[in-house]
Amino acid sequence: MSESKAEQVEMSQTEMSQGSSLTAAIILAAGESTRMKSATPKVLHTLGGKTLLHRVMTSVEGLNPVTTAVVVRFEGERVAQAASSYTPDAIIVKQDDIPGTGRAVQCALASISSRLEAQQGPVLIIASDMPLLDTETLQALTNAHKEQGNAATVLTTTLANPFGYGRIIRDESGHVQRIVEQKDANTAERDVKEVNTSVYVFEPSVLLKATQNLDADNAQKEFYLTDALETARQFGAVGAYEAPDSELAEGINDRVQLAHLASLHNKRVCERWMRDGVTILDPSTTWIDDDVVLARDVEVLPGSFLQGKTRVEEGAVVGPYTTLIDAHIEAGAHVERSRVQETHIGEKANIGPWTYLRPGNELAANTKAGAFVEMKKAHIDEGSKVPHLSYVGDAHIAEHTNVGGGTITANYDGTNKHHTEIGANVHVGAGNLFVAPVTVGSGVTTGAGSVVRHDVEDNAMVYSENSQHAVENWTPHATADASNNNEERK
Ligand code: UD1
Ligand code: MG
Repeated sequence: MSESKAEQVEMSQTEMSQGSSLTAAIILAAGESTRMKSATPKVLHTLGGKTLLHRVMTSVEGLNPVTTAVVVRFEGERVAQAASSYTPDAIIVKQDDIPGTGRAVQCALASISSRLEAQQGPVLIIASDMPLLDTETLQALTNAHKEQGNAATVLTTTLANPFGYGRIIRDESGHVQRIVEQKDANTAERDVKEVNTSVYVFEPSVLLKATQNLDADNAQKEFYLTDALETARQFGAVGAYEAPDSELAEGINDRVQLAHLASLHNKRVCERWMRDGVTILDPSTTWIDDDVVLARDVEVLPGSFLQGKTRVEEGAVVGPYTTLIDAHIEAGAHVERSRVQETHIGEKANIGPWTYLRPGNELAANTKAGAFVEMKKAHIDEGSKVPHLSYVGDAHIAEHTNVGGGTITANYDGTNKHHTEIGANVHVGAGNLFVAPVTVGSGVTTGAGSVVRHDVEDNAMVYSENSQHAVENWTPHATADASNNNEERK
């Protein structure tokens, strides 16, 4: 290849990559969420462990827009705060009292129009109630917009049940003539199955002109952004790009749709893990957040929720009926019918059934936390076991110690929390109470029912004096007169 040709190829690649970047992305998040019937704005409801807004903003950031603007109004402070946490340099725009998606874009343009002039490349507009839409589909829309040389392009999809969506009305040449909302559509228009997804790409100059004269002359008395497409026809072609995967392009307006999309998404997540070598006995009752990481030969049994940044290593078994939140489960461990949060479970440890591990525990390899055991900030060293009905909080138990059933570390004096230290190879009798702060040495044995208030030396045996009282021939429910038989004998 000659040098100049090589240069040309290089040039066109640079142009392509420059061309693929957007001048701006306008994210609409100001709606009132009426149909959610919630104090929480719709875009802050979650799916797969992330808010709808977070998902949309992540997909948009994949296109690397020069400017990102997020339009807020309903619960605006909360939405703005969330948006800034996802994309710190996003420009937050407040929508005024005039409702509608068209008004939202007008408000955004008032803030960023000077930035549009300075750049080349189209502007993306996207609703934030379509949580499954991915960067690839947005990229394909942008590419189609450029290839077709359009003034504006709308992302559409075809749905068996298009109820609630704006319908795409095309002209004879296949271009988009207009979009008609469900509430404004006549019977013939309602029969159209191709719908508006609320994602658009506009040439900046067209967008500025087409949104100038919107009005609220419609059933909802709102400024519709969809009307801008009809106007855009005056400035060039208005095209449509049909999303290849209609499930990814569905929107959420109420909680029925939220549940529907959450389960579609979860099914895809489970299928991905199964293809990667994870056994999931019942994907319909197994919920896995996006950021969870599972190794091969992990087995997840029904009714399990794997949330946050949970990691499960090779061959571990989770479930049935288990919730893991930001937990790290090492290889070969088994967690059954339990809740585990911000806790590290070592190799081949055994947790459950019915164990409640609150944040801050470190359980080493071959440890056990059994039925009805609660732990918080407990460090349990290798091979130690807390098998039954116990509370271990703010405590360190060294290796190969066994804790008898019904044992409590009394860590709270009403004002402060205190630490319990139990050494290695200790045999803690049943029903012990460790009144913290207290330290028990290694090799200690404690008698059943001991109340350990003072430190215990290595290799000691400690027990508490509990006097036993017996009343012979006890008559239950005896009256005062008839109770003569109930004589106490020590
Ligand atoms: C909108 C489209 C409809 C499309 C559907 C796809 C219009 C007029 N209709 O209807 O054609 O089929 O999305 O899901 O655009 N928003 C604001 N400010 C507002 C109102 C809404 O920022 O004043 C935001 C919302 O927060 C939301 C998005 O715009 O993220 C869409 O609003 P929504 O009320 O859900 O519109 P739809 O009725 O679904
Ligand atoms: Mg919507």
